[in-house]
Parts: sequence; structure tokens; C-alpha cells
Amino acid sequence: MQRQTVLVTGGAAGIGEGIAQVLATRGWQVLVNDVDAEGAQRVAQAVGGIALPGDVRNDPQGLVAQAVAAGGALHALVNNAGIIRRSPLADTTEAELDVVYGINLKAMVRLSQVALPHLQASAGAIVNISSIAAESPQPAAGFYSMSKAGVSAFTRQAALEWGPRGVRVNAVAPGLIRTAMAEAVYSVPELHEKRRMMMPLRRIGVPAEIGKVVAFLLSDDASYVSGQVIAVDGGFTQTLIDHLPHPPTPAF
Ligand SMILES: NC(=O)c1ccc[n+]([C@@H]2O[C@H](COP(=O)([O-])OP(=O)(O)OC[C@H]3O[C@@H](n4cnc5c(N)ncnc54)[C@H](O)[C@@H]3O)[C@@H](O)[C@H]2O)c1
Repeated sequence: MQRQTVLVTGGAAGIGEGIAQVLATRGWQVLVNDVDAEGAQRVAQAVGGIALPGDVRNDPQGLVAQAVAAGGALHALVNNAGIIRRSPLADTTEAELDVVYGINLKAMVRLSQVALPHLQASAGAIVNISSIAAESPQPAAGFYSMSKAGVSAFTRQAALEWGPRGVRVNAVAPGLIRTAMAEAVYSVPELHEKRRMMMPLRRIGVPAEIGKVVAFLLSDDASYVSGQVIAVDGGFTQTLIDHLPHPPTPAF
């Protein structure tokens, strides 16, 4: 039987690489897109897939056409490519807004639109990578949060509009995952330790833990799941009240 094909954007490193690895072990043929052509080639080779290098902002038609030609059909799209820029809102430039919205949100919408007829033909699915930052402001990276709020809203909107075409659309909202994007924090042992202790599971997540939830959402086990944004964060988003000073509580 021919393998099902999935296009993973930003698949050369971090969470995208973790997603590519997990999906390959579940039998998917993985088409690895990334602006880092060498990285895409390395991961594609490692997972027995095909590299489709390129910037997600350029030529979505071309990327989807290459994916369909390489795989014979397209059964799934994982919109993972994303970047963060750190600057206070008051100082954020138009160029910074354009690059963050362009990659995190606009390219995801355009690729999804172009992939839609192919996913409709294969009764396929889309998974978008949002963030817990979509629901929480964060210091000096607020427009990243705003772009991710757009990713979550697009996920719900597309689920409504594309469900009748048989295409499911969901998102995963990672919490703290150790990748290059956040390495400036985790390479400082004291910061790493403080963050670790704030997680109910007492550890920072790894890319494969996002990949496993993506694999579930693309699988038949999730055949009636659409329009959901699933936080994969070790329980971190449930800790708000725990941050308050309080009298001693019984150990738990
Ligand atoms: N790491 C975290 O803690 C975390 C938390 C929440 C959400 N996320 C989201 O997960 C996704 C992956 O993040 P990560 O931590 O793995 O980041 P990363 O920087 O480690 O990897 C991102 C990959 O995307 C590629 N990329 C960047 N711009 C691209 C473009 N224009 N076209 C094609 N590829 C491009 C990069 O080359 C890189 O390989 C992002 O959408 C990010 O916002 C990450």
C-alpha cells in the first residue's frame, strides 16, 4: 500500500524535526520543508523522506505542487515553521511585524488554502503549531503572541469552513520545549532549573512530545476531532493560582 504523505514546514530543526521523526516512525512519508536547505536534506535523509527546501512565504503553489508530485498525493499538512522576535510593543518596527506575521500566520493561511483541494481529495487533515503564548502575553515578544492567537483563530475558522469538505483542522499549542528558539534560556543552568521547577511535571518538554500529539491528530484515532487547540505544556497553563503567596498548604 502507498504510504500517506505529509508536508511538514520548518522541519529541519527543533519541533519540526521532532514531528518529522515521529510521523516517519508511524509510517508517514514525510516531505521536509525548511528555509535551511541543508537541514531539510539532513532530516529528510534521516527519516526516509524527501526534502522540499524553501521559504514558506514564497510560492505556496510551487511548494504544494512539489509535495503532491513527490508523494503522489497529499494527505496532511503540518504548519510548523515559526519565528520569534523579541522587542517591546512600543518599539516594534513594521519590518519586524511583517516578518513575524508573514511566517507565523500569513504563510500558514496561504499554504493551507493551496493545499485544501488536495486534502479534500484525500480526506486529509491540517495541524498548525500555535503556542501557549496565544493565550498569554509575554515580556517583550507580544507580537509573537498576537501572531499565535491568529494561528489558533485560523484553526477554529478553517475547521468550521472546511469540515464540510471532509478536512479536519487542529492545532497544538506547545508550552516550554527545548529547541534552538529558546536555547538562550536553557543554556543558562540557573534559568533552566527555575523554569523546570515551575512545570507541574518538573521538566521542560522535548520536540517528540509535540510530534506524538501531532501524530494522534493526523491519525484515524482523531477522526472526530476538529477545531481544537491542544496545549502540550506539562500542565504549565494550570499554574496561575499556584504563583500566589499563600499560607502553608498540605504537601501534594
Ligand atoms: N520551542 C518552544 O518552546 C515553542 C513553544 C511554543 C510554540 N513553538 C512553535 O513551534 C514551532 C517550531 O519552533 P522551534 O522551537 O522548533 O523553533 P526552531 O527555531 O528550533 O526551528 C524552526 C525551524 O523553522 C525554520 N524556518 C524559519 N523560518 C522559516 C521560513 N520562512 N520558511 C521555512 N522554514 C522556516 C527554521 O529554519 C527552523 O528549522 C514554531 O511555530 C514556534 O513558534 C515553539
